[in-house]
Amino acid sequence: MKCFLSHFLTILMLNTSLAQPDPHSAAKPAEAVVTHLSLKLAVDFEKKVLSGMATYRIDKSEKSREIWLDTRNLKIEEVTYADGSKANYSWAEEKPFVGKALRVELKESTREFNIRYSTTSGSEAIQWLDAEQTQSKKPFLFTQGQAILSRTWIPIQDSPGIRFTWDAEIQTNPGYLAVMSGRNVTNKNESGLYKAQMELPVPAYLIALAIGDLEFSPIGERCGVYAEPQMLKSAADEFADVEKMLIAAESLYGPYLWGRYDVLVLPPSFPFGGMENPRLTFATPTIIAGDRSLTALIAHELAHSWSGNLVTNSNWNDFWLNEGFTVYFERRIMEALYGADYAGMLEVLGYGDLMSTLQDIGMDSPDTRLKLSLEGRDPDDGMSDIAYEKGCFLLRYLEQQVGRAAFDAFLKTYFKEFGFKGITTERFLDFLKRKLKLNEVQMEVVNRWIFSPGLPAECIVPSSSRFEAVKLAVQQFEGGEKKASELPTSGWSSHEWLYFIRNLSSQQNEARLSALNNQFGWYTSGNSELRFAWLMNRIQAGDIRALPHAEKFLGEVGRRKFILPMYTALFAQPSMQEEGLKMFKKYKSGYHAVTRNSVEERIESLKK
Ligand code: BES
Ligand code: ZN
Repeated sequence: MKCFLSHFLTILMLNTSLAQPDPHSAAKPAEAVVTHLSLKLAVDFEKKVLSGMATYRIDKSEKSREIWLDTRNLKIEEVTYADGSKANYSWAEEKPFVGKALRVELKESTREFNIRYSTTSGSEAIQWLDAEQTQSKKPFLFTQGQAILSRTWIPIQDSPGIRFTWDAEIQTNPGYLAVMSGRNVTNKNESGLYKAQMELPVPAYLIALAIGDLEFSPIGERCGVYAEPQMLKSAADEFADVEKMLIAAESLYGPYLWGRYDVLVLPPSFPFGGMENPRLTFATPTIIAGDRSLTALIAHELAHSWSGNLVTNSNWNDFWLNEGFTVYFERRIMEALYGADYAGMLEVLGYGDLMSTLQDIGMDSPDTRLKLSLEGRDPDDGMSDIAYEKGCFLLRYLEQQVGRAAFDAFLKTYFKEFGFKGITTERFLDFLKRKLKLNEVQMEVVNRWIFSPGLPAECIVPSSSRFEAVKLAVQQFEGGEKKASELPTSGWSSHEWLYFIRNLSSQQNEARLSALNNQFGWYTSGNSELRFAWLMNRIQAGDIRALPHAEKFLGEVGRRKFILPMYTALFAQPSMQEEGLKMFKKYKSGYHAVTRNSVEERIESLKK
């Protein structure tokens, strides 16, 4: 009895964040809450279906006779109790974005039940790749749970404030490897049966699966990389410093609690740069630049092991608590490894991103507040650079106000206090007030930062001496003082190059344009950031010679951060709109739903 009581109390404590209801989930955890999920799924690459059984262990209030799960576009075949007898279930009405809630009837004694189900073509978390979309020329699949897509491949309480442990058995074809965001206990084998488990409680959006012709290469004691065989060596080389990042992160904010930290390199259609799936970051191959220049992204996903995966936003209105903290932490890791100069460049680039986002969505837009109000909307819509950069600059402001030592001590206790719990903006503010003892003026600034649109004047504008030199080079080139070949670019990192391109005017005369193309060849750069930045410069200039290069890029890469702005820029040019629409039609089937839906929305808004 005592044991049961303490278990129940733990679960209650885990889910205390639920004081604020999640507008994107139908779960009613105070009635009944999932504490453990067991998945047994078989993969059919031909039909593009996952099917099998989910078993749930639950805690419930004594009087509760129902549990609510989130589902979207799933085919539910049967619901049974632990003894195999059938359980009754019913549906709530389908809602846009959030899907159709499933209500399972419980008996007083029910502590476990099963759902037999299969996925459908509307299971948007999953991308099924045909052989020609991969390097190994074998089919591949991966899932993306954040923000509210896990419910499209698992019937589950899909709210970031609800955590549970899980285990899974995946049956796939021989010769493939299945890996998940947990402890992967099976090596590649001929039976195609794989097991994984997660012994620490996690929210549903952090469950992920990938299957393909994957291989593993260790890159340190606790770190390694999974990739298709053709990519494995270059990936292991690119991420050589990951173990050092892990050590630096631990010395900043406390022990890494998840055991291993591996990176999975996905095919280029992966819609994000990276996704912080526990123990196994999912990453785009577009960060493999050959010179380790884009690995801040790995520092970012690693940092989520604390901010996000350990201390989790309790619903998506508090998304900045995941991302803003993570960007701050990412830059601290990069500073520890490569110095303040290097991290300073990242910060200036981030500030630039923040300025253009503020301009794009408008200084007065409610979506520029840190605390969002996403009810009735797709949470994806409100997730912009605001959470990342405006959030990070708030933490920089706090750091400056109280000093780095005090701020680091504060963050360390924050991760301890809220570990394995949900965090809301309000609770963060309360903790801040108690621990950092800010005065009224400072609290007013913080409140304005969080609840008002735009950016407070108190924001520290970052600067970088290395970038000052780049600015000078841009001026010398555009003023005709120096030719492209004479610019002092030796020793420039890819960040300096990026800053150079971002500061180049799009109005280049013919001679200067061909000099740039001949000298630097960014259209075909192996560095995706440079290639993207240059393409954007040329598209915004209305230079139709950029079109074949843009088409090549859009046909190769599915990362939304590149794809969405590029189509948007094409659509904005009268001479390019039609071509842009044609390209989208041609390539959309190769994009993950997350990317495809975003571009489609943009096209819809063109029509308005
Ligand atoms: N958790 C995010 C990715 C995400 C956000 C997925 C919102 C779904 C909804 C991840 O940690 C991230 O921020 N990735 C960035 C890279 C980072 C260096 C800014 C990305 O994908 O570009
Ligand atoms: Zn992130």
